[in-house]
Amino acid sequence: METIKCIETRRSIRKFKAEQVSHETMQEIVAAASFAPSWKNTQVTRYVVVEDADIKAKIADEATLGFDHNAGIIKGAPALVVVGMVHGRSGFERDGSYTTSKEDRWEVFDAGLATQTFCLAAHDKGIGAVILGIFDEAKVAEIIGLDEGQKVAALVAVGYADEDPAAPKRKSVDELVKFM
Ligand SMILES: Cc1cc2nc3c(=O)[nH]c(=O)nc-3n(C[C@H](O)[C@H](O)[C@H](O)COP(=O)(O)O)c2cc1C
Repeated sequence: METIKCIETRRSIRKFKAEQVSHETMQEIVAAASFAPSWKNTQVTRYVVVEDADIKAKIADEATLGFDHNAGIIKGAPALVVVGMVHGRSGFERDGSYTTSKEDRWEVFDAGLATQTFCLAAHDKGIGAVILGIFDEAKVAEIIGLDEGQKVAALVAVGYADEDPAAPKRKSVDELVKFM
C-alpha cells in the first residue's frame, strides 16, 4: 500500500472476527516493525503474542484497572500483543547514567515508534489493531511471566477487522505546526 494512504486509512479496530492471524503473518509484521528507528539502534522493543483464551481472559479480568471497555476488546480479539521493552538501554550511557533529562523515557518513545510501525504493517496486510494504554503494567507482566529486565510498554489487540470505523476528527495542520 502507498505509505500516505496506509497512514491515513489505518484505524483503531476494536471488533474482530474469530479467525487467528497466522504466526507467519505475525512474524512478517514484527519483521517490518523491526525497521522502526530506535535510540542508537538499541532495538529494545519486544512482542509477546497471547493467543491463549485463558491468559487473555486473565489479563482482561485482572489487569484492565476496572476499565470494562478494554476488557471486552481483549476478550474479543483473537490475539493480544504485549509490547515489551528492554529496560536500561535506550536513553542510557554505558555506565548506567541517563544521557538526557528525559531519563529512561526514550525507551517508551522507541516502543511507541515500533508499535505504530507494527500497526501500519498490520494494516498493510489487511489486519486490524488497537493500541491499549489503560492496563495494570505490573499485573500484565506477572500474568505472562515477562522476561527479567523488560517492562510492558503497551497492549495491542490484533485480528481481522469486523468493523469499519470512520476516522475520528483530526486537528487542522494550522493548529499542529508553526514555522519560525
Ligand atoms: C498511547 C495510546 C493509548 C490508547 N489507549 C486506548 C485504550 O486504552 N482503549 C482504546 O479503546 N483505545 C485506545 N487508544 C486508541 C485511540 O483511542 C485512537 O488511536 C484514537 O481515538 C484515534 O483513532 P484512530 O486510531 O482510529 O485514528 C490508544 C491509542 C494510543 C496511541
